[in-house]
Amino acid sequence: MLEVVHLKKYFGDVHAVDDTSFVVRGGEIYGLLGPNGAGKTTTMKCILGLLDIDGGRVSVMGEDPVVDPQAVKASIGYVPEEPLVYKSMTPAELFNFVASIRRVDAAAASRKAMEVLTALDATRHYQDPIITLSRGNQQKIQVVAAMLHEPRLLILDEPTANLDAKSTRIVKEMLHLHVEQGGAVLLSTHVMEQAAELCTRIGIINRGKVVIEGTLGELRAVAKESGASLENMFLRFTGQDKDVQQAVARLRSTNGALGA
Ligand SMILES: Nc1ncnc2c1ncn2[C@@H]1O[C@H](COP(=O)(O)OP(=O)(O)OP(=O)(O)O)[C@@H](O)[C@H]1O
Ligand SMILES: [Mg+2]
Repeated sequence: MLEVVHLKKYFGDVHAVDDTSFVVRGGEIYGLLGPNGAGKTTTMKCILGLLDIDGGRVSVMGEDPVVDPQAVKASIGYVPEEPLVYKSMTPAELFNFVASIRRVDAAAASRKAMEVLTALDATRHYQDPIITLSRGNQQKIQVVAAMLHEPRLLILDEPTANLDAKSTRIVKEMLHLHVEQGGAVLLSTHVMEQAAELCTRIGIINRGKVVIEGTLGELRAVAKESGASLENMFLRFTGQDKDVQQAVARLRSTNGALGA
């Protein structure tokens, strides 16, 4: 469903995406895990055709975002990491706007919006300006907006970062349902338990490169540690485990007991 082949994206000297390749098949939830600045968001924006690329190629169900960004966007539901731009609108207005851009029948879009809003317990905010909603409720509106046109591929950049436990669970169930119905999901997260529990396969990205990918079991086999936590493997595969030890040792040596 999604193919990323030797993708490159540079910002001046910064190689934000540096020869990255991976594939996401129908029925899969593929998790991109990486430190801050590793290139996850940039990779997603290149897939959507929101950024010009410097090398390689992307294919979304056979369509190339460089050639036809509109066709690619039509088959993707995207939840960006940054907050919504159109905050003076109400969710109802935003959904109408999205439906018109995506050329979805207004009644069908409104039915879909109500279905997802109900699942996320957010129908009461339908007519409130988005700017007046809490960060978590704004995030829910973004999830709904991404699903209105019933896209096959969902690209979600830290989709549950601001959600409470119940809404996080509902979103995870929605993603399971989406792939059961033949869709595919590419998501980025910093929550290791979520990646371990939710993702069919995990790609660990560091400095713009996918350094290793596989199922949790495959990653454990490479790490040669059957019970290893994903967090420990993540830190090791990204070469950050020693940084953590050094930082903690420094903190311990420079901090005395707290005063009374
Ligand atoms: N518009 C831009 N102009 C210049 N540099 C950029 C731009 N966007 C991203 N970068 C740089 O590209 C690199 C990758 O950034 P990106 O946002 O893709 O990381 P990320 O993996 O999503 O990180 P995070 O976990 O913090 O969200 C970083 O070094 C970042 O500073
Ligand atoms: Mg990011």
